[in-house]
Amino acid sequence: MSTPREVLMQQRRQLPIFSAQKQLVHEILTNDSTVIVGETGSGKTTQLPQFLRAAGLCRQGIVGITQPRRVAAMTISERVAEEVGVPLGGEVGYTIRFDDKSSEKTRIKYLTDGMLLREAMIDPLLERYSTIILDEAHERTINTDMLFGVLKSVQKNRAAQADVTSTEGEERAKKSRRRLGKLKLIIMSATLDADAFSRYFDAKVIYVEGRQFPVDVYYSAEPQQDWLDAALVTALQIHVEEPPGDILIFLTGREDIESLEELLLEKRKKFTPEMNDIEVCPIYAGLSPEEQLKAFAPCPPQCRKIILATNIAETSITINGIKYVIDTGMVKSRSFDSRAGVDSLKVVPVSKAAARQRTGRAGRESSGTCYRLYTEEDFYKLEDNTVPEIQRCNLSSVILQMKALGIEDVLNFDYMDKPPKLSIQRALEELLSLGALSPADGTLSTFGKKMAELPVLPSFAKVLLASKDFKCSEEVLSIISMLSTETDSVFVTPKSKKKEALEARKRFMSSDGDHITLLNVYNNFIQSKHSKRWCIENFLNFRALQKAVDVRRQLKEYTNKLGVGSSSCGRDLDEVKRCFITGFFTNIALIQHDNSYKTITENKICYIHPSSVLHGSKQPYVMYNEVVFTTKFYLRDCMTMEPAWLEELAPHFYTKIKVLNKPTMS
Ligand code: CDP
Ligand code: MG
Repeated sequence: MSTPREVLMQQRRQLPIFSAQKQLVHEILTNDSTVIVGETGSGKTTQLPQFLRAAGLCRQGIVGITQPRRVAAMTISERVAEEVGVPLGGEVGYTIRFDDKSSEKTRIKYLTDGMLLREAMIDPLLERYSTIILDEAHERTINTDMLFGVLKSVQKNRAAQADVTSTEGEERAKKSRRRLGKLKLIIMSATLDADAFSRYFDAKVIYVEGRQFPVDVYYSAEPQQDWLDAALVTALQIHVEEPPGDILIFLTGREDIESLEELLLEKRKKFTPEMNDIEVCPIYAGLSPEEQLKAFAPCPPQCRKIILATNIAETSITINGIKYVIDTGMVKSRSFDSRAGVDSLKVVPVSKAAARQRTGRAGRESSGTCYRLYTEEDFYKLEDNTVPEIQRCNLSSVILQMKALGIEDVLNFDYMDKPPKLSIQRALEELLSLGALSPADGTLSTFGKKMAELPVLPSFAKVLLASKDFKCSEEVLSIISMLSTETDSVFVTPKSKKKEALEARKRFMSSDGDHITLLNVYNNFIQSKHSKRWCIENFLNFRALQKAVDVRRQLKEYTNKLGVGSSSCGRDLDEVKRCFITGFFTNIALIQHDNSYKTITENKICYIHPSSVLHGSKQPYVMYNEVVFTTKFYLRDCMTMEPAWLEELAPHFYTKIKVLNKPTMS
């Protein structure tokens, strides 16, 4: 009998990357920067850090591996801790926003790209690290793109420092107690076009031989209107007709995933005794770690696993045993219309590159099949590659961070791909209007420095800091924590109990809008002494509320440090609402004749999102946190407000625009 570790070791030895260990380590040790390209599942993310550990790089400092996704950082570090044979949070750990499982001992650290940017703010030379691996570079998330430039310059500064130490002799080195070595950079990607990385980092590209079996691709004959239904029918057909092998279905997000899970479980109830069973495993950000790990565990014999995933399963994580892939061809994507100034979350078609990655997941262990729920003609209409996030997102958050990192000239920064100038200007204007930049020369203000320290979007940071003046820091902390749980909703609405769920929700609903409603939920949860039973009875997501408590504790540490102090406005909730206006004064919409709303800065026609407590009520004015586009533009997280507040609280903005003097029902 072999021990679990021996089994793991055997699995590791079979990974394609294993045979390349010597060459990889040699190249990495002889070069400052290296680009590694390898098929998804070849073992890059889990094995390379362990190779570097064996080569001694961990003795010189931490080996940090960035991940665009929180879920990937969590599940992969857990796996690696197991492989190394240490408890998670010891030698192997992870750090993501509001969740840190790392310690003094940690030498292999998985962290989100956003967290590494934050660390660079506090430690500009990233002194604790010997090596940084930028993983999933092909995803081109906004934070990874920022890290490209930032790390290139950290590497240069570290090299310069290392030179000083060696020329000025041991004395100086002793004085600084330890010698700061060079920073090694490794860029890892799952797609073949690594030329851009190679040029930008002046680095050699090493290809790791992958193992890919043929995958048959089938297309829909007709375009599908309802991809959930199409996915359901296809999955059941595979289950009934095809040989064993698990099914991976690519969906757009939690809502889709939960609906399909429910539909599948309904169908399962009607399975005849001679039919094999199914096990449905969802995987998306915001799922609890235990639930995420379920997708990785093998299911019993005579049972087929159906994994419902977002694009996280495209390249970030590999699940073994997949033989069938069902691709809806859709993805939830954030985009920013810099002309209109609207940031929106839309469900859009994937790129050809992403569709091919999805298909590839069916052929990792043997030949497989991929069902594309769109026509072949539509496939050829897809974009070749996904546009880097930096070219399609709101930049205010990263620009604030760049300024905090000491990069003042954000227009001429060494970007791998430049963002549109208009987006940069928009972001600078937003930061200026929030008071983060000094109006005289655009440098970071003292207030902006504080804003950058808070791990939330600039507008929320402004609200948190302003809560001191409005004497409502306790309320604001609760609301922002509730909005930061990374779950779509704290309200649970099972399809079979819609009426009861809605009834329960009424207990918390406030005519002031979603913010105060969330505050009511939070306060009642605290009163219930964090009771799970109370949550179930009230159709609330217990885990999201636990998370909110945890996030709040952490945010409070930040605000305490920044001198916000503790204050409460009691029943005078207008103070809370006014405080939110200081961060969201540009996000105001006015009601129109047909009960739609028009945003005042861009004159965009929007609707209050059905999930909002203000949905269906006619408010002359609403403030909203964000615009989401699905079939139309929806305003999410809405609050009622008084127009007079705008000129009072944001005079620099509203005396200029004077929109509110126009008749509202124009
Ligand atoms: O990074 P890359 O796509 O090259 O591969 P990886 O993430 O390092 O995965 C290597 C192997 O580890 C795959 O066969 C995964 O299925 C396995 N793995 C696992 O079984 N459980 C995890 N939690 C993570 C990875
Ligand atoms: Mg990987």
